[in-house]
Amino acid sequence: MPPYGGRLVDRVVDPAAAEALRAEAARLPAVQLSSRVATDLYLLAVGALSPLEGFMDREQYDRVLDDMSLPTGLPWSIPVVLPVRRDEADRLRPGERAALLSARDRPVAMLDVTEVYRRDLKRECLAVYGTEDSAHPGVAALERLSDLYVAGSILYLGGDEVAEGVADDEALTPAETRARFRDLGWRSVVAFQTRNPIHRAHEYLQKCALEMVDGLLVHPVVGETKTDDLPADLRMKCYRVLLEKYFPQDRVLLSALPLAMRYAGPKEAVFHAIIRRNFGCTHMIVGRDHAGVGDYYGTYDAQRIFDRIDPDQLGIRPLNFEHAFWCRLTEQMATAKTSPSSPDERVFLSGTRVREMLARGERPPVEFTRPEVADVLIAAHQKA
Ligand code: ADX
Repeated sequence: MPPYGGRLVDRVVDPAAAEALRAEAARLPAVQLSSRVATDLYLLAVGALSPLEGFMDREQYDRVLDDMSLPTGLPWSIPVVLPVRRDEADRLRPGERAALLSARDRPVAMLDVTEVYRRDLKRECLAVYGTEDSAHPGVAALERLSDLYVAGSILYLGGDEVAEGVADDEALTPAETRARFRDLGWRSVVAFQTRNPIHRAHEYLQKCALEMVDGLLVHPVVGETKTDDLPADLRMKCYRVLLEKYFPQDRVLLSALPLAMRYAGPKEAVFHAIIRRNFGCTHMIVGRDHAGVGDYYGTYDAQRIFDRIDPDQLGIRPLNFEHAFWCRLTEQMATAKTSPSSPDERVFLSGTRVREMLARGERPPVEFTRPEVADVLIAAHQKA
């Protein structure tokens, strides 16, 4: 699977050059990065957002919001932008360089500034999230940001943690996953996006997909999430105990993806697919309410949006799944497509119910969660 746009972008400078650029950075105007933008910066640098080489300018931003594409016509669903405070923006000049600082004030990248522009908050909220409701976590995150965006290509120096609690070797770059897939001889690879521990329904989708393709990339997002989502290091522990016992070792690869969740439902599903294509995947699982939150999106909106996109341009194919459950009648995981059971024969558990059980130290039923995963979660509750 060739990278999106044909070439894998690489904006990471070598350590010697990085050292020299860090010295230069001290003399340049600076822009402070939020943790959300810091992960976007990292993904730009390693080519996960190819063909982008930096933060979007006004023309790209407008096309993404209005036409769900880049100016080149390539489908693209979510703006990748760098907000700047007014006092920072006042010091930036097109054609000149700025230093991008991590939350700990370390220079982590250079930005070759091309433009500073004013965003259109309402249009951006409606285009990306389909709502302007401040209760939506994606809208709320946007509202907290400055109204000014700065555009330009980046050079990545690194030198600071990308995502909290995740070691570098747990988060492979697109070049590294591609090399692994080649070594493993996988010609078709399905990506599984998740922000939760893997429950039986998730496992079922992955196993169904594995019946059809050579390999599975379990690719949990470990960037900024909602405060009630579980921390990345705890989720990574859950994935490891599950994969170790219940998956064939030579057909799965676990790697963390330092990406901030947007909770943009359908628009985010397309964004997730583009990113996974850059990591070398040929397919991506899209289940019920993918990247959704509350009841902002229809259950299968994130599947339907792909009908509006030219599959040859997108390259990576969504593998759609209906709502999966444990079926008491057939005694297996199923969906309405594979089981004739009546609604009272289907075991669905709400996230809230499961959290309550874990907090009480109770394992949820095995029809819902593997006991090894439940035990990791219970132990974390007891420590908290
Ligand atoms: S998401 O925000 O990353 O989409 P989550 O980790 O819950 O949230 O879901 C990961 C993937 O599994 C998504 O593609 C989602 O649509 C799918 N999914 C989650 N639960 C189910 C389920 N019970 N049935 C079918 N698909 C599901």
